[in-house]
Amino acid sequence: MTKVGQRTVGTLMARLTGRRRAPAGGRPQPAGPAVQGLDPLTERLSRHKVTRIALNFLDSNAGLHLKDLLIDATSDDRRIEVDGQTVWNFGSDSFLGLDRHPRVYEAIRAALPAWGAHNGASRAFSSPVLVDEAERKLAAWLGVADTFVFPSVTLANIGLIPAIAGPGDLLVVDRESHDSVHQGARLAAAGGARLEVIPTPDPDVVAERFARAGGGVLAIDGVYSMSGRTPPLAELDTAVRRHGGVMYVDDAHGTGVVGDRGRGAAHAALGTLDNVLMVGSLSKAFSCLGAFVTCTPELKTVLKIKSSTFIFGGPVPPPYLAAICAVCDIFMSPEYDALLAALRARTRQLTAGLDRLGIAYHDGQAAIVSVLVGDIEKTFAAGRGLFDRGYYAQSATYPAVPINAGLLRIQVNANHSAATVDGLLDALGDLVRSGHIPKRRSAS
Ligand SMILES: Cc1ncc(COP(=O)(O)O)c(C=O)c1O
Repeated sequence: MTKVGQRTVGTLMARLTGRRRAPAGGRPQPAGPAVQGLDPLTERLSRHKVTRIALNFLDSNAGLHLKDLLIDATSDDRRIEVDGQTVWNFGSDSFLGLDRHPRVYEAIRAALPAWGAHNGASRAFSSPVLVDEAERKLAAWLGVADTFVFPSVTLANIGLIPAIAGPGDLLVVDRESHDSVHQGARLAAAGGARLEVIPTPDPDVVAERFARAGGGVLAIDGVYSMSGRTPPLAELDTAVRRHGGVMYVDDAHGTGVVGDRGRGAAHAALGTLDNVLMVGSLSKAFSCLGAFVTCTPELKTVLKIKSSTFIFGGPVPPPYLAAICAVCDIFMSPEYDALLAALRARTRQLTAGLDRLGIAYHDGQAAIVSVLVGDIEKTFAAGRGLFDRGYYAQSATYPAVPINAGLLRIQVNANHSAATVDGLLDALGDLVRSGHIPKRRSAS
């Protein structure tokens, strides 16, 4: 058993208590004020029901779960070193391996002397011209009139959803959408939008709601981040469009890997983004930093006035804007085809192997393949077992997924080798034999 987890987790209460005790061989800490500071607040927060349950769970499973890891070293071929153990990393969203690409490195390096590491001003005041170049290149890649860059998808969702769903507007949100979509929706509701969270993205339900309201906004993920599956975007678009509504699609995991030249799940389903605000990630397949939303120049002007995270938040640093431009060039070049072919080959290799092993999994058009495990403890144990066999994949548990539907979330990358995927399959086979991963029910 390695020591992973112990370095980062430990019990909160033990840490609090330990801070008050004199360190071994050290000088005793002063009594009174030293105990004050942030400790009473921490203790009060840790007594909240959900926090207490989570802390107890983490404490009783220390050494089993692999949360909050610190990585000591990485390599081009996706090995990571954690607490002295080297494992193959299947937990990276850099699906195309562009985080290790020489053109991305060079773009960052070349931008530094001219622009520095950061420009340190809200975009509402000023921006380096690189942002304009990045937004144009993104628009050209996607075949849309314009795009609008944010520092993260979370900030885009929190800034844009309240901006497009105002007082009295209908805002329908798919329950399986990312947490940041829900956070943006809660802000919109606080501002007077009529929020309805639907349990499944049923086009008939959506059509009925939009018909009654005479329009509105449907907010939904393009690729569900835990399972990798895609909702029925074409049918939903028909339902929304018929009644004068628009779709807001958080396509963080589809960006760069789904559809023609990686234009995402909405573009793949609809062939156009003319009635969609697509939010793409610049941090996952792009391997840079930030997010964008597709729009028109006129809508962008309005969104700049209405989006609080644009007005009051910071920018994407200039070297990363240069890197975004370099990645757009890669996406439009023949090299993209080679990267995507490698990613698809590894993904097919993985799913074919899972089928052979009789393992149940979710997948879709993106690069996430999620193995179905079960309750929280089993899911942590499966992740731990995989780690001990030299492979890391994320254990996705409640509340990210339903309570007994934990997943081993495997992120396939173009720079995984065929031998690495074979090794992962061997390890997963071992876990099936040891009972850590259940076999698919229908499998013999
Ligand atoms: C669907 C979705 N939206 C938003 C985010 C958050 O993105 P960011 O880290 O850019 O805020 C994620 C992160 O994984 C995601 O999967």
